[in-house]
Amino acid sequence: MTWKMRRVAVIGAGVCGLSSIKCCLDEGLEPICFERSSDVGGLWRFEVEEGRGSIYKSIIINTSKEMMCFSDFPIPAEFPNFMHNSKIMEYFRMYTEHFDLLKYIHFKTSVVSVTKRPDFPMTGQWDVVTETEGKQESAIFDGVMVCTGHHTNAHLPLDSFPGIEKFKGCYIHSRDYKSPQAFSGKRAIVIGIGNSGADLAVELSHTAEQVFLSTRQGAWILSRIAEAGYPMDTIYVTRYVQFLRHIVPLSLVNYYPVRQTHLDNSCLSLSFRFCSQQPTISDDLPNRIISGKVLVKPNIREFTNTGAIFEDGTREEDIDVVVFATGYSFSFPFLEDYVKVVENQVSLYKYVFPPHLEKPTLVFIGLIQPLGSVMPIAELQGRWATRVFKGLNRLPSASEMVADISQKREEMAKRYVKSPRHTIQVDYVEYMDELACLAGVKPSVLSLFLMDPKLALEVFFGPCTPYQYRLRGPGKWDGARKAILTQRERIIKPLKTRVVGDYTHHTSMPYLFKISGAITLFAIIFTYSLAPSLNGYI
Ligand SMILES: Cc1cc2nc3c(=O)[nH]c(=O)nc-3n(C[C@H](O)[C@H](O)[C@H](O)COP(=O)(O)OP(=O)(O)OC[C@H]3O[C@@H](n4cnc5c(N)ncnc54)[C@H](O)[C@@H]3O)c2cc1C
Ligand SMILES: *[C@@H]1O[C@H](CO)[C@@H](O)[C@H](O)[C@H]1NC(C)=O
Repeated sequence: MTWKMRRVAVIGAGVCGLSSIKCCLDEGLEPICFERSSDVGGLWRFEVEEGRGSIYKSIIINTSKEMMCFSDFPIPAEFPNFMHNSKIMEYFRMYTEHFDLLKYIHFKTSVVSVTKRPDFPMTGQWDVVTETEGKQESAIFDGVMVCTGHHTNAHLPLDSFPGIEKFKGCYIHSRDYKSPQAFSGKRAIVIGIGNSGADLAVELSHTAEQVFLSTRQGAWILSRIAEAGYPMDTIYVTRYVQFLRHIVPLSLVNYYPVRQTHLDNSCLSLSFRFCSQQPTISDDLPNRIISGKVLVKPNIREFTNTGAIFEDGTREEDIDVVVFATGYSFSFPFLEDYVKVVENQVSLYKYVFPPHLEKPTLVFIGLIQPLGSVMPIAELQGRWATRVFKGLNRLPSASEMVADISQKREEMAKRYVKSPRHTIQVDYVEYMDELACLAGVKPSVLSLFLMDPKLALEVFFGPCTPYQYRLRGPGKWDGARKAILTQRERIIKPLKTRVVGDYTHHTSMPYLFKISGAITLFAIIFTYSLAPSLNGYI
């Protein structure tokens, strides 16, 4: 009997939900999306609401537009490279409208439980119970895509902070921070130097009397801007740099981006190698530190009635407010029987499929923490997952999947400082290529060099933009080649708001590529012929 997958429940209409709906449509499946709130966009919609991830009013994304867009829908040339959240929402709405996704979404509908049907081993079908305005309904689905995000539950480790109960000031989690007015003239401590901690310390320091930024380990701080005004990620998230990482020591490759923003000799000094921790992206933090508006302190040993004592014995009194930028944890309350989240870890094959189900009809989309953007990854996960749903791609056996999961875990343990923050960490280009191989859409740079050298140069030396995964294979998009060849124009366009004569040809190609392009090209051909095992990287 051949049984056909048809109806797919997509849970959540954040970015991952939207791209998953589209992936279903592209594969001829019938998506039905359930979204608890009344609109699309998930945490990028600035609005205070329970049970949904949330951002603060001023937040600007830390991944640039060419790197974060969906692979067949470039962000308009005139949009800034790093967008404010309102602009991001505008793009997501354009995407929703262009591919006509709205009609598949049931708003104000929560999924309360997902359970296997009795005949699951044969059919792989699920019972999905939803609730709309207090009314429950149940329906059968052939597949389920979980797109509920992993930034919903605030991680507030009060147990690690003795004395917090007697502290008379107020404390909040960064999730509940919206805008700086209430902090005017106050003395504040921000705990944590991740992206949120750095952003909030900077923002508060403009109105507060003094901001203390408490960090256990310090962090590598990266800027959004790199040479010639190009976004940092468009220069460092490339196949070329990825390739260099395999032939020269990691620290050399990473020296340049860090050199620009790192305050040597300072409070940020680190006890770990670059890349053993997720770097923090902040253009302003070094400036706020150097101007004394933010003072970096070690971990807090204990709170007093009115302040805190730090691990070096120093104390700060008259503290009005403490912001815990201590991250998030995730959970799937509607799916408790099938995935166990232990210490912020789940066992998923390629971070997508639970390995022990009789049929591969349940997937998790966007459950990753990339050094890069979530959106294109979620999209590629969706493309692969829907093909597995349809039986066009197969998964290995359960034991092979489990082995792959443990191998990934070991690699991660070797590389990253142990922390709940690093449980779902992935390397952008490497992980995208891995998914692309599985989905049969990985660009072959070598054959491109032979057939279309101009394109190949941009694919290899230019930013590893999502369009690369639409050049061939299932889901091939005819616009991909053009999108790649015009990406630099779209990067430069929003900066051309004042005409300054034409000296752009000096800076139009970041110098890193200019000087090293030819040499590396030679090196690749040379290395390639020597070490076929490097094949996968180029
Ligand atoms: C402060 C902050 C800053 C970030 N900055 C960046 C950045 O700069 N660049 C980047 O790439 N990523 C960033 N991220 C990561 C971010 O998680 C992704 O960009 C992306 O928004 C994740 O989308 P998502 O669809 O997985 O989840 P979400 O956007 O959280 O959407 C999940 C949706 O599911 C719905 N939902 C949840 N449970 C249910 C249920 N049971 N039934 C029905 N609906 C449900 C929710 O209402 C929500 O709409 C940031 C995250 C945070 C918290
Ligand atoms: C951007 O910020 C978010 C939220 O803090 C973080 O999860 C993500 O890893 C950051 N991205 C990069 C490329 O650093």
